[in-house]
Amino acid sequence: MKRIPEPELMDDPEQALAYGRADFEEPHSSFIKLLKEHCPLPGRTGTVLDLGCGTGDITFRVGRAFSDSAIDAIDGSAAMLFHANEELIKKPEFLGRIQFIHGKIQEFAPEKFYGLIVSNSLLHHIPDPADFWSAVKRLSAPGTRVFIMDLIRPGTAEEAWRLVETYSPDEPDILKRDFYNSLLAAFEIDEVKKQLIEAGLCGFKVTRASDRHLIVYGIRD
Ligand SMILES: C[S@@+](CC[C@H](N)C(=O)[O-])C[C@H]1O[C@@H](n2cnc3c(N)ncnc32)[C@H](O)[C@@H]1O
Repeated sequence: MKRIPEPELMDDPEQALAYGRADFEEPHSSFIKLLKEHCPLPGRTGTVLDLGCGTGDITFRVGRAFSDSAIDAIDGSAAMLFHANEELIKKPEFLGRIQFIHGKIQEFAPEKFYGLIVSNSLLHHIPDPADFWSAVKRLSAPGTRVFIMDLIRPGTAEEAWRLVETYSPDEPDILKRDFYNSLLAAFEIDEVKKQLIEAGLCGFKVTRASDRHLIVYGIRD
């Protein structure tokens, strides 16, 4: 099935509210388990960067997993960051340690490199995936650990609907629609491998992590 890109930013307030309230316990706890497995972090990580952090659930989980690390988390949607900051205020343990930044990754150019770069479900939102990998390259230095999880595009539209009904049967329609559109906008594993070669990021591994997820991980050389 051919890729059908979806809107890049999730900037509709209704969509952001539904996303912030959704139950992501299963995929997001799996993200942390796989991150620790594939990116063991000896000692200090330096600052962590979460690309496309949305409402911040992954950011807070990474913050709990690596309690010595500061985290910068960036998203282009003010609506999503509104909910992330609302949660941050309720979690005093993260104040001063987690910073939510409003901006697009294509334009993000701080004067520093990150020790660990993570991202969940952003790659498929970017119209040209080369922009995603170029941000990973620009924001990392040799030795930076990278862990990315994203959806895998299914073979047919019917299979995409089956995944939506299997994993989000009770979510609101707006969220089911977003999940379906995201599956159609996602990449196949071989496409991601090709993107990495084209970006000159040949040291990273790409593997299937579930019936709907792939992971990309490794150390920047
Ligand atoms: C599916 S959500 C994932 C949110 C979060 N990582 C999570 O797993 O819960 C994708 C997020 O990427 C953001 N996004 C899309 N394109 C972006 C870009 N070019 N720069 C920054 N954020 C972007 C969207 O606004 C949205 O909040």
